[in-house]
Amino acid sequence: MELSTAIRTTGSVRSFTPEPVDDATLYELLDDARFAPSGGNRQGWRIAVIKDSAKREALADLMRPVWDDYIAIASTGTTPFAAVNPGTYQPTVRAAGHSPNDLLDNIATVPVVLVVAADLSQVAMMDKDLEREAITGGGSIYPFCWNLLLAARSRGLGGVMTTFLARAEPAAAPLLGMPANYAIASMIFIGHPVHQPTKLKRAPVESFTTVDSFDGAAFSA
Ligand SMILES: Cc1cc2nc3c(=O)[nH]c(=O)nc-3n(C[C@H](O)[C@H](O)[C@H](O)COP(=O)(O)O)c2cc1C
Repeated sequence: MELSTAIRTTGSVRSFTPEPVDDATLYELLDDARFAPSGGNRQGWRIAVIKDSAKREALADLMRPVWDDYIAIASTGTTPFAAVNPGTYQPTVRAAGHSPNDLLDNIATVPVVLVVAADLSQVAMMDKDLEREAITGGGSIYPFCWNLLLAARSRGLGGVMTTFLARAEPAAAPLLGMPANYAIASMIFIGHPVHQPTKLKRAPVESFTTVDSFDGAAFSA
């Protein structure tokens, strides 16, 4: 597949056919993804392939309340867990049962379930001393995640990167045997798509690109 086409058509896939993805294929995806850039080329990504069904269910149990909170906050029109201006709404009373979620509800049968962690001793967080939330460290891990999803797409597979497990990191860490200096960056689900989305909704270049300053004129060709 042509690279530009792949970039423009790799949408999130959250429902998978029962067809398995063998370890040799997963190895190939990881082998492609490892060519991602990272600060200082330190490659601080660490991947756990979660095969054990009981462990998958335990992780899903940790993520369900996070998903419920996400839905509840989003329903107020606020960005859930926004780094700034998070709004005041706090879901306090959870409804009986959980909001449906294809990934969590079917986690035992998703062909590939990965937890991606960052070895924080290998990630330069250039903005960590500023008086705001840090963001730059993720830049050394998420290109790997995205490469993995592009590599999956190039083989007719699909998937999605998720971050809800990060909110449950203190409880997830012991389940995952995660060292103290690691942080959960994402969880990635991969398989054969029930439906491969190809028409992605994204804002046009002019809406987010300006000339000379962020309050400058819109950039256009
Ligand atoms: C950093 C990051 C975190 C995400 N977290 C979640 C998540 O927790 N759960 C989920 O279902 N999708 C998650 N997504 C997928 C986004 O919802 C998806 O990329 C976005 O809605 C665009 O949808 P599309 O790819 O189908 O066009 C995440 C994506 C990124 C890049």
